[in-house]
Amino acid sequence: MDKDVSGDTLKAITEARHGKDDAIKKLAETSGGEGSTFGQLLNNPFFTAGFGLAAIGAAVRYSSSGLRKGTELLRRRMLVDLEITRHDESYDWVLNWMTAHYQHQLAPIARRKDVGTLEYLMRRFTPALHHLQIKTAVSRTASGSEQTAFSLVPGHGRHIMRYRNAYVVVNRERIGKSFDSNGRPFETISLTTLYYYRQIFEDIFREAHEMAVQSTEGKTIVYTTRGMTWEPSGQPKRRRPFESVVLEEGLAERILGDVREFLDARTWYLDRGIPYRRGYLLHGPPGTGKTSFVQALAGSLDFNIAMLSLSQRGLTDDLLNHLLLNVPARTIVLLEDADAAFSNRRQQDSEGYSGANVTYSGLLNALDGVASAEERIIFMTTNHINRLDEALIRPGRVDMTVHLGNATEWQIGQLWDRFYAQHDPDRESRRRFIAKAKAAGLIDSISTAALQGVFLYNKDDADGAIAMIDQLAASHQDPKKPTIAVQ
Ligand SMILES: Nc1ncnc2c1ncn2[C@@H]1O[C@H](COP(=O)(O)OP(=O)(O)OP(=O)(O)O)[C@@H](O)[C@H]1O
Ligand SMILES: [Mg+2]
Repeated sequence: MDKDVSGDTLKAITEARHGKDDAIKKLAETSGGEGSTFGQLLNNPFFTAGFGLAAIGAAVRYSSSGLRKGTELLRRRMLVDLEITRHDESYDWVLNWMTAHYQHQLAPIARRKDVGTLEYLMRRFTPALHHLQIKTAVSRTASGSEQTAFSLVPGHGRHIMRYRNAYVVVNRERIGKSFDSNGRPFETISLTTLYYYRQIFEDIFREAHEMAVQSTEGKTIVYTTRGMTWEPSGQPKRRRPFESVVLEEGLAERILGDVREFLDARTWYLDRGIPYRRGYLLHGPPGTGKTSFVQALAGSLDFNIAMLSLSQRGLTDDLLNHLLLNVPARTIVLLEDADAAFSNRRQQDSEGYSGANVTYSGLLNALDGVASAEERIIFMTTNHINRLDEALIRPGRVDMTVHLGNATEWQIGQLWDRFYAQHDPDRESRRRFIAKAKAAGLIDSISTAALQGVFLYNKDDADGAIAMIDQLAASHQDPKKPTIAVQ
């Protein structure tokens, strides 16, 4: 019985076990056993691999955005940027300075000992300038010939530069597709270095500025118009010595004294609310030194010149006004051919339209509009003073009118001395030259420019200059004959 009982029990236990197996099977079926879709997916190696990839992708994404944020943070905390736009005056200074800096830095080193191991290694690992841009400046000399100067500056893109012990990333780039009024693309240069070295920017700018000042020291920048703005025309020119332009006795000094007095009277003008400007009119025949005198004057005052001819095509009243209101600092304005505006008045009277030229009222308005805390010195020149109107020669527009005439006896003597003083110590040739010029009727009737031409042609040859007077007189009577016959 016992056995029977135990037999029954065993059966029951086995049934119960089967039941449990079923239950497990059922559970597996519902919760993802081999038969269910989810279970099938779990067992699918492709699915699990995809899942893994997605997980890895997400992780990478999170970590890369973390990395990006981290780098950005690091960048913000550890790096410092400085941006210079093309419109800033320092733009060209920095470009020129960079070229000079690279040249100096990459100059070959003779011996390692000369510079020290650290400097030697740093030099070896400083990359050279790889993309360069050429800058061409064409300037016209007084004789009309052209001079061209080339300079190389860092081109667009990234450059790595070393300044002292700091590495600086320089990025020169064009911004968008915009162009300024002169058709030049808008550009920036940005300098980036470690925050630790941030003070080097100040030093870089100081050096770049000093270099720019040095390159113009003792020189006069001549601005001409380009589009709507004043642009330096070619390289700065060597100052013209003040004494090299010989005007009537004491005249040059009188004008210089007047300008100096004006420059010293800034507060006097400002206190009284008078526009701080002064206008001069130089008139006389061609070749009597009007343009040259203004150049020499600018040189001796350490000013630059902004030159503009009123007979220039395309110069409208608005443009003239705009240009006069935007003259660079420490610059004398030289308005040539002032009479052009007056001939346009007539043209406008008859036709009612002046074309793309300056009119008389346009000139007066532009002169009256010139008001600035900075000094404004305006020189106007003309060969035909009789064509000008009284209204122009009114204090505030023209404060001083000066006639520069043909060479007087005194001027001839002075010019002679400038050319032949060493060759003519007892002044014998000088006397002969003046006497012969007088006899030929040339005193007060030939231009200083013609006289200078004779002296230039007979450089170091006083007798040659005396002999040439006959030719000069002949060409003077018949202007078609060349003053100097070139053999
Ligand atoms: N008084 C002068 N002293 C020295 N050089 C002179 C003088 N006048 C003219 N020259 C020389 O003659 C040339 C022409 O002079 P400049 O251009 O100054 O004359 P300008 O009076 O402006 O003539 P224009 O009325 O035709 O413009 C220059 O090379 C200049 O050096
Ligand atoms: Mg002139």
